[in-house]
Amino acid sequence: MKFYTSPSFSRTLERLEIVRSSLRWTPQLNRAGIQKILRQTNELRQDILLLSGEERYKQKLCERISQQNTPTGQRRQALSDRSFVFEGVFGDNPKLLEVLETLEKAAGTDLPVLVEGESGTGKELLAKVIHANSNRSEKPFISVNCGAIISTLLESELFGHAKGAFTGADKARKGKFEAADSGTIFLDEIGELPPESQVKLLRVLQSGEIQRVGSDEVICVGPRVVAATNRNLYEMMLEGRFREDLYYRLSVISVTLPPLRERRDEIPLLIDYFCAEASKELNRSKVNLSPRLRHFLMSYAYRGNIRELRNIIYRISCLSDDVADLKHLPETIRPTSASTEETKTTVSETSLTLDEVRKAASDAAEKAFLEERLIETKGNVTALSKRLNMNRSYLQTLLKKQGMRAKDFKIRTHEKKKRA
Ligand SMILES: Nc1ncnc2c1ncn2[C@@H]1O[C@H](COP(=O)(O)OP(=O)(O)OP(=O)(O)O)[C@@H](O)[C@H]1O
Ligand SMILES: [Mg+2]
Repeated sequence: MKFYTSPSFSRTLERLEIVRSSLRWTPQLNRAGIQKILRQTNELRQDILLLSGEERYKQKLCERISQQNTPTGQRRQALSDRSFVFEGVFGDNPKLLEVLETLEKAAGTDLPVLVEGESGTGKELLAKVIHANSNRSEKPFISVNCGAIISTLLESELFGHAKGAFTGADKARKGKFEAADSGTIFLDEIGELPPESQVKLLRVLQSGEIQRVGSDEVICVGPRVVAATNRNLYEMMLEGRFREDLYYRLSVISVTLPPLRERRDEIPLLIDYFCAEASKELNRSKVNLSPRLRHFLMSYAYRGNIRELRNIIYRISCLSDDVADLKHLPETIRPTSASTEETKTTVSETSLTLDEVRKAASDAAEKAFLEERLIETKGNVTALSKRLNMNRSYLQTLLKKQGMRAKDFKIRTHEKKKRA
């Protein structure tokens, strides 16, 4: 089974290089060889078409933000006028713009940058922005996840090893620092770096020299270092869990990405972009969101930030037909009782009269109101009737009309407690 992976510029360039070098080293091409090269170039052509479509879409969205005649729109436009490369970073939230403006100034230097922010806020994307705006943009961008590599292998991963340095080292190997030499090395999850590796990293940053594991040879390296963490590195340093000297070396320029819940103004734009991206990836038409799903997505807390929003949009794009609704959300975040409901009539249905549309809207508002209040009173109808100053049997009639069962709200609350 062949899995489709979306193209990226770096992968496409790499594949182009493979075709070029195989042509360079092939003395003669027979028919099968020519066909193979044609197939490879066709695939490359396809990827380039997809990438340029994606670029145009991103550009259009960015232009839309910049053209808004707001102070933040103007700041974004100013960045764009100064040829700042956004690398697909959307939004014109003031906090985000401040980060981008800082990076614009820092990008052209070789100063180390520390990017902090909760998980999924776009730290890696920002590291790519720094690289793309630097004069190293044509050189490699090498990413190392310091938390994902076991500590005994981390050193050889970062600095390489000599042949025979340890069991299994049957060949000499370059490390990430050497591979990134005149480009950028991105040290992700730097807060996970064990103390012994912190000392070695500090030494390399101070001297600009590395030694492969098991070798005495000193090799000069000069990648630009960008580090990221979702921990509070400053606090870790104060508590003695992260070396002070390394902290100050890495954080000459430091920026913090705000969580998505503090930049809700960007949610509609991100929804629009991810819906378009998902439609392309999943090869389906762009999904429409029901008004109440849109309302939910606008007010949800997003612990996983932009990545969580992106995953939700991919999920609903995959599971829904034309209109996605609350029932397509993952169960863990779905508002109570939405799972059993069918998607409600929306005003976009053209066959309805104005009165019918009014009634549908009023029904939907009534239902949303009752749902919210039932969640608050944990499904207790008596408590709710008192709170609303409403006759209990009238409230029961309303719930019945809306097809809602108070006990559904009790069970959910009970389940949540059990899970907690
Ligand atoms: N401002 C933004 N505009 C558009 N897409 C964004 C933005 N910020 C992040 N994303 C997207 O959100 C996803 C998560 O971003 P990224 O991997 O950079 O986050 P992260 O902070 O490194 O997360 P983690 O801490 O979990 O590693 C990616 O798909 C990225 O392209
Ligand atoms: Mg990351």
